[in-house]
Amino acid sequence: MRTLTAAAVSILEAAEPAEKMARSHAAAALWRQGTIHEIGAAGAPPRPVRPERPLLRHARDMPKRSARGSRENRIALLHALAHIELNAVDLAWDLIARFASTNLPLAFFDDWVTVAEEEATHHRLLAERLQELGARYGDLAAHDGLWAVAAATSGDLLARLAVVPLVLEARGLDVTPSMIERLDAAGDVTSAAILRVIYRDEIKHVAAGARWFAWEAARRGIAPVATYQALVRQHFRAALKPPFNAAARAAAGFPAAFYAPLAASNS
Ligand SMILES: [Fe+2]
Ligand SMILES: [Fe+2]
Repeated sequence: MRTLTAAAVSILEAAEPAEKMARSHAAAALWRQGTIHEIGAAGAPPRPVRPERPLLRHARDMPKRSARGSRENRIALLHALAHIELNAVDLAWDLIARFASTNLPLAFFDDWVTVAEEEATHHRLLAERLQELGARYGDLAAHDGLWAVAAATSGDLLARLAVVPLVLEARGLDVTPSMIERLDAAGDVTSAAILRVIYRDEIKHVAAGARWFAWEAARRGIAPVATYQALVRQHFRAALKPPFNAAARAAAGFPAAFYAPLAASNS
């Protein structure tokens, strides 16, 4: 693999999750060592290749996850999160390959290679935990909503950053603490510990999103807050769900002035 975009494409085209994760770690290591040092111009495929399982369903056809901590419910939660993390791996590599031609600094690629590698670790931790609980990633159905949102923003780096790290990953910061509490309450401290690792890393991912959103808005000479709100209204279409984890979002350099005006009313 001679260029970073070629490595990204080979990861997007790997169907099997274990292979996708292995290629992600290998590419990240080669990038850090400088063995891969060219960005190249391999373009992202329209969508990543997916394994035969999980079966993908429309989000509205997915069963509601229960808050109770039975083994079955915990498996459903961990399976849904493993699916999100698999998508997150592809989203990071897609960002690299899709927008490489827009003259971005090396620091951009450093950041998103690190994000991709951390997402691969998250997926692996969850997949291994599912196995410890007697299940496997792929056993349950999953939804394709994440990729649909990504596809809607494939024409514009700012729109992609607004919607993926700064809506979807930021939403992860809002909901993860209560998941950790529920797992702890169910006595599943092992799964809770995995979610703590994910939570800590996702603050960095939102921070990378906020940093590069600001950078690109400055390059275009446009106001970041108003632009963010316009892009989210255009591409995400749903109101943002409060309550927000304002502390974690602020720790990621993502102040409430961006997202609070887009909140659904709390009634
Ligand atoms: Fe993640
Ligand atoms: Fe992430």
